Amino acid sequence: MTIGDWVWDETLFEGASAYYAAGRPPYVAGWVDVLVDTLELDGLGRLADVGCGPGTLGLALADRFAEVVGLDPDDGMIAQAASRAEAAGLAGRTRWIEARAEQWPEGLGTFTVAVFGQSFHWMDRDLVAAKVRDALVPGGACVLISKPHVDVLGREPVPHPATPTDRIKALAESYLGPVWRAGQGTLPNGTPGGESAVLERAGFGDFEGHLLPGGAHLERTADVVVAEVFSLSGSAPHLFGERLAEFEADLRRLLAEVSPSGLFSRRQPSTEIRIWRRP
Ligand SMILES: C[S@@+](CC[C@H](N)C(=O)[O-])C[C@H]1O[C@@H](n2cnc3c(N)ncnc32)[C@H](O)[C@@H]1O
Repeated sequence: MTIGDWVWDETLFEGASAYYAAGRPPYVAGWVDVLVDTLELDGLGRLADVGCGPGTLGLALADRFAEVVGLDPDDGMIAQAASRAEAAGLAGRTRWIEARAEQWPEGLGTFTVAVFGQSFHWMDRDLVAAKVRDALVPGGACVLISKPHVDVLGREPVPHPATPTDRIKALAESYLGPVWRAGQGTLPNGTPGGESAVLERAGFGDFEGHLLPGGAHLERTADVVVAEVFSLSGSAPHLFGERLAEFEADLRRLLAEVSPSGLFSRRQPSTEIRIWRRP
């Protein structure tokens, strides 16, 4: 998979898995209900969680399906998903497979639903859309869950200092340079949009969209803010090399300066759900 000069490699999220579940703000509550109602989930189908990370979507949906299969090329993410499934008593109905979606393993069987949580943009999308189309039963659903590109969140007063995102970005850039790093390369123009056209090329029709408004106040500790920074591909731990501890110390100093109480306020991002049906 390439984007301009950038080539996908397996270090994309290296070291991020230990931070991911703690650091990423949750999807807006109610996203499971939207899927249950819209897709009439009855506990009998099979779910593919593609680019599953630490099992964010698959674990939340596990009791709505007979089986969940998660795919992710990052060994740390797969280990996290498996241990979180075990801890939640869901090991029996979930499988976590270390693989790129492009290398869809043989013999996985058919699925009633495939979900992608903020992951489709990292894939060879035409290839993966075709794989998913072939893996879905007729009428099955391909679901993309993400944050909207433009998100208007409330401005009501919050109890703690806001997460100092601009200063964190500047600090990370002083270590990593100004251009978005991704794995061993850089992505000056980010990842592409236009998912509808990709899915249309694969034979899916129009999508049904749902927007769950964000804006809820999230109280975040300094540890959680640090975890969010390291959960991002553009500031994943591997990128800092030998200077990782130095960066973390600088980051924690910055956070302590901004909020001596160690608490931060953040607005929860909105959650966008788009659902395509296999004809
Ligand atoms: C932003 S995380 C999203 C994790 C999870 N789906 C969620 O919603 O929280 C993106 C995930 O996509 C995975 N990923 C990246 N490239 C991939 C590929 N080609 N095939 C499958 N998964 C991929 C990464 O390893 C990472 O775990």
